[in-house]
Amino acid sequence: MSRFAHPAGDLHAASSIVAVTAGLPEERPQQHVPADLNALEPAIWPRTSGRADGAVTIGGIDVRDLAKEFGTPLYVIDEEDFRSRCREYRSAFHDGEVHYAAKAFLCREVARWIDQEGLGLDVCSAGELAVALSVNFPPERITMHGNNKSLAELEKAVQVGVGHIVVDSYEEIARLGFLADKHGVRPKVMIRVTVGVEAHTHEFIATAHDDQKFGLSLSSGAAAEAVRRILALPQLELVGLHSHIGSQITDTGGFEVAARRLARLLVEIKEEHDVVLPELDLGGGYGIPYVVGDESLDVKVIADGLREIVTKVCESAGLPVPRLTVEPGRSIAGVSGVTLYEAGTVKDVEGLRTYVSVDGGMSDNIRTALYGAEYTAVLASRVSQAAPMLSRLVGKHCESGDMVVRDLYLPGDLAPGDLIAVAGTGAYCRSLANNYNYLPKPAVVAVSNGQARVIIRRETEDDLLRGQL
Ligand code: LLP
Repeated sequence: MSRFAHPAGDLHAASSIVAVTAGLPEERPQQHVPADLNALEPAIWPRTSGRADGAVTIGGIDVRDLAKEFGTPLYVIDEEDFRSRCREYRSAFHDGEVHYAAKAFLCREVARWIDQEGLGLDVCSAGELAVALSVNFPPERITMHGNNKSLAELEKAVQVGVGHIVVDSYEEIARLGFLADKHGVRPKVMIRVTVGVEAHTHEFIATAHDDQKFGLSLSSGAAAEAVRRILALPQLELVGLHSHIGSQITDTGGFEVAARRLARLLVEIKEEHDVVLPELDLGGGYGIPYVVGDESLDVKVIADGLREIVTKVCESAGLPVPRLTVEPGRSIAGVSGVTLYEAGTVKDVEGLRTYVSVDGGMSDNIRTALYGAEYTAVLASRVSQAAPMLSRLVGKHCESGDMVVRDLYLPGDLAPGDLIAVAGTGAYCRSLANNYNYLPKPAVVAVSNGQARVIIRRETEDDLLRGQL
């Protein structure tokens, strides 16, 4: 069997691919040979990307120049892409709030962009909060999340005056009551409700079914009990309900069911306590396209759909319509980021495929190994008319599950020294990055209008040794 695609169709289906890591499905769908290996599908690549002189450009800069100046692997963020998605969310939810989910990707510069674009910020640890506060992000536009916030984290949130704290357990209600007394403040709290929606996404990132660690269950009555307990503490101000059903979801039905159930709970709270809660936070989770054929969600359609459902439920019960908040992470940061690698070893495993090794891997992008995530990658430093070569893009770590792109076609003349760009790595790649095998984390460079600047510098060997005896 040849490693080159046959003109009559691709050869991939001929050998059934067996998963080698726990997170991967047993069988993979057949991969199609792209019509043009040099093409950059607009929905998948950053908005300012293109090709000039054969090479990929982002923000008006040739990736060969980026690699020369900053080295590889390199995370490249298209600032205009990132900011334009913030603006689209703001305009779609003009009558509500948009809080960027810091966990997708946060650094000081991104916190500044979020502030400048007028969004709020969701944090789920003291560390994320510290990044935001270090650039004077207005605390009243910050929401504090987490299923196991420490007393110290809660105290910090209360002391700096974050806008909202989302309560995830009974224990936390008692702790917050204590802290509010201690500091003489009345924090605004929401309740994270587990709405019982089966989100169509990977099990590890689905969060609205009952059998997982987040939230207080709607069906068991735990959410209603949390309402009673908070209302019994005058030092806490209960302002609303929160739900987040999971991540990388493209079927909008789940969001709508969640919105309807939360709105109904608002109605029940009014009936039981004669209290009208003014806010609903519907979380994030909006999926992005990673490979050709993946669906793209339209932010305006989502906003209009959610608003309509909540309005209908509340108006029919005679309740005022609550202010809606959403918390997108991936759908703001994901497509704006690209990872640039240099190809090293190119190994043809006869009869199977060609393994193209890059100078990073599961330390800068663990999502493929962890969730069986799929990505699109191209030869970025030049165009090639060579025949498509069935490939696997792998890293340099010491395990065979170290894959960046499990199945893809690359040009058959790909050689060591070529640059490869992987799309859609702006969310949950740098934030999940690790130092496995003592690889330093790559730099993050923001590009815009022909200018590139380092917003997180590359780690050095000194960084790797820091803190050790
Ligand atoms: N709000 C809350 C409360 C969340 O827990 C999350 C994500 C978000 C908002 C943002 O979700 P997004 O819009 O980014 O989907 N590491 C996984 C994703 C974990 C998401 C956790 N929570 C991945 O790489 O796919």
